[in-house]
Amino acid sequence: MSTKINIFDTTLRDGEQSPGASMNTEEKLVVARQLLRLKVDIIEAGFPISSPGDFESVRRVGELAGDDAVVCGLTRAVEKDIDRAAEALKAVKRPRIQTGIGVSESHMRDKLRITPEQCIERAIHCVEYAKKYVEDVQFYAEDAGRSDYEFLAKVIQAVVKAGATVVNIPDTTGYSLPWEFGQRIKYLMEHVDGIENVTLSVHCHNDLGMATALSMEGVRNGATQVECTINGLGERAGNTAMEEVVMAIRMHEAELNAHTDINTREFIKASKLVSSITGMQVQANKAIVGANAFAHSSGIHQDGVLKKRDTYEIINPADVGVNQSQIVLTARSGHAALKHRLDDLGYVYEGEELDAIYQAFLEMADKKKEVYDEDLESLINERGRNVEEAAYVLEGAQISCGFPLIPTATVTLRDAHGRSHTACEYGTGPVDAMYKAVNKIVDVENDLSEFSVSSVTRGIDALGEVTVRVTAGDGTAYIGRGADGDIIVSSTKAYLNALNRLIANKH
Ligand code: KIV
Ligand code: ZN
Repeated sequence: MSTKINIFDTTLRDGEQSPGASMNTEEKLVVARQLLRLKVDIIEAGFPISSPGDFESVRRVGELAGDDAVVCGLTRAVEKDIDRAAEALKAVKRPRIQTGIGVSESHMRDKLRITPEQCIERAIHCVEYAKKYVEDVQFYAEDAGRSDYEFLAKVIQAVVKAGATVVNIPDTTGYSLPWEFGQRIKYLMEHVDGIENVTLSVHCHNDLGMATALSMEGVRNGATQVECTINGLGERAGNTAMEEVVMAIRMHEAELNAHTDINTREFIKASKLVSSITGMQVQANKAIVGANAFAHSSGIHQDGVLKKRDTYEIINPADVGVNQSQIVLTARSGHAALKHRLDDLGYVYEGEELDAIYQAFLEMADKKKEVYDEDLESLINERGRNVEEAAYVLEGAQISCGFPLIPTATVTLRDAHGRSHTACEYGTGPVDAMYKAVNKIVDVENDLSEFSVSSVTRGIDALGEVTVRVTAGDGTAYIGRGADGDIIVSSTKAYLNALNRLIANKH
């Protein structure tokens, strides 16, 4: 019988740890809804002790998921972390606590400053402690990819005895070679008594560009849970991309004698949703979800595909949700058409909220003849960005520039107390002038390290979306995005969005 491989999504936890990819609770709920449409088995919704936002996200994603998915909260092997995770998961229908500790020499000696014996003691204790709260306890052996085989087996043996239901073997630093990582999984399968009674999970990072290959070797050697993220988001070079590992399993189902229950037709939608919410764009040549993943440009390839698709295409694009809808909305479209389209894009709105979005949609449709999916995504995300109390809101922006004028900007911002502030500055270009004017009002130390503009849709009236990255004095990076028909307004919104996030985090 074919083995079911559980898909454990960690976009909202490890994915969110990508520098600059932080999401607020509302944004996380939008992503969680899409994860449920994908039919993932487990959603890791956050690290509850790390911030009130993460706590809330675990609680609310749990509420949203109901019986449809297991919802997991991360902890260190520390009692107060576990208490906090248990509190966030209190009302969750299918709760799981993931707890664990570093098991490599480097982590034990240099990070935790503990002996291997103390490591085993703490591993056992954290599992037993978490078991007081929930039945489903997942143990992670951090940096397992660089650990000693025998010691790793000893730790895993101990936590299986202590009652762990899932054991997670992460290649935390993305160091392993796929065949070696496969050997490690096989070793555990052969040397840990009772391992057949728990779920063996793999969690691989992409530092050498091999996360998907590592996870596949894990599956080939006995892992029945794969941890992954949409678009491969995650710490440093990221995690295993869900779309890649799921499609690889699907393409080789017979050989692996394994399958997942993922609704792959939701992949493109999920990918676009996550990149538009986090501002982390997907490269055009990215497997499965990149803009060129199903584009054929050479004459020889085009000739082959036109004769028979599978000469150059191993996946039917429809199977991952490419080109599912081309509906274009206009100012004449009603509530129902807008709701239908939003539902399809993964955004569920009802009642007053839908009315407010409809009004914003009409304003946009008045300016643009046709409103495409990308315009809608941009409109929704603009609202999402403003859900959290913003320290400053843009009230007005004016620019004068040209040749031989000196670019000069005037900006008016409203602060959280309702007071308006106006400033004027000149600069080397219109954006420089505008950002200097904003800085005169918003006095926070920051360094603008990235600025990019892209057109959200087609045509001369397309929205221009600006993404900026600013680095605060303490080195933390913040992404800001803004979209508007006027590129200077988008630039100002994007900068303000990043500064608002910086200020919120500082507070
Ligand atoms: O990479 C890692 O080891 C992790 C663990 C917390 C599972 O993210
Ligand atoms: Zn990780």
